[in-house]
Amino acid sequence: MKFTGCIAVITGASKGIGKAMAQQFAAHGAKVAVLDIDAPAGEAVVQAIHEAGGEALFLRADVGDPASMEQAAEQVQNTFGGTDILCCNAGIYPQAFLETMTEADWDAVHRVNLKGMFFTVKAFLTMLKRSKRGRIVLTSSITGPITGFPGWAHYGSTKAGMLGFMRSAAIELAKYGITVNAILPGNIATEGLGEIGEEYRRKMEAMIPFKRLGRPEDVAYAALFFASEEANYITGQTLVVDGGQVLPESSLALEDF
Ligand SMILES: NC(=O)c1ccc[n+]([C@@H]2O[C@H](COP(=O)([O-])OP(=O)(O)OC[C@H]3O[C@@H](n4cnc5c(N)ncnc54)[C@H](O)[C@@H]3O)[C@@H](O)[C@H]2O)c1
Repeated sequence: MKFTGCIAVITGASKGIGKAMAQQFAAHGAKVAVLDIDAPAGEAVVQAIHEAGGEALFLRADVGDPASMEQAAEQVQNTFGGTDILCCNAGIYPQAFLETMTEADWDAVHRVNLKGMFFTVKAFLTMLKRSKRGRIVLTSSITGPITGFPGWAHYGSTKAGMLGFMRSAAIELAKYGITVNAILPGNIATEGLGEIGEEYRRKMEAMIPFKRLGRPEDVAYAALFFASEEANYITGQTLVVDGGQVLPESSLALEDF
């Protein structure tokens, strides 16, 4: 998969999955715009890409603020001259249980994960329409579309909502040759997952047929695939990247055989 001459914009790219996407797109020849609210970490990603011989730019941008996203799009236009690939990846996942969840908890997660995706697509749409290879890749999750977990009802609602958005957007944007697809990661070892603790990690790994958490690169490779020239006839689709985590019917399926 070659991305020479392509311009990729990735939100939430200072850390975790977005950082791996930025590094992989750059390693495969794309010019990369790293968008995030965390400037020091984002600058470090750009520096690492430069040191590896790639081209990248950091822009401080809050996906939940439409004016901030419009400004970032203008800067990408002025610096790189367009956008071919847009990865809507920024997301937050603070745990909150229904009995104590406040409207503010609900809104904070929806602001970044769902409205943020909408504002990102709106801001970059003009450039994507001009591209010969318009690609939108959404980072959804298994949580919401497929699975549930106590404390993540608001989060699951945003991640399932992203897929509803995707299916209509894919039809609307087909006339411009823009594809819209989503990746559903399982449990990926990122900064956001924090210090989960050895005990918790061991229990989670035991539930995954591949017996390990995902690496950020595992998700980045799926983004490269959806963004590739070869995936030009695939739109409105989801790709689960979870080491088989959603497959077992029960814990019996994971016992030794
Ligand atoms: N890690 C997992 O196990 C997992 C699983 C399924 C889905 N996901 C999804 O993958 C995406 C990335 O998750 P991660 O684990 O890499 O997270 P992370 O916390 O490691 O990184 C997320 C990045 O997003 C940035 N960000 C947060 N709010 C922002 C905003 N308003 N505007 C711009 N940037 C913002 C953060 O500063 C951070 O750099 C999220 O959408 C998340 O829901 C993660």
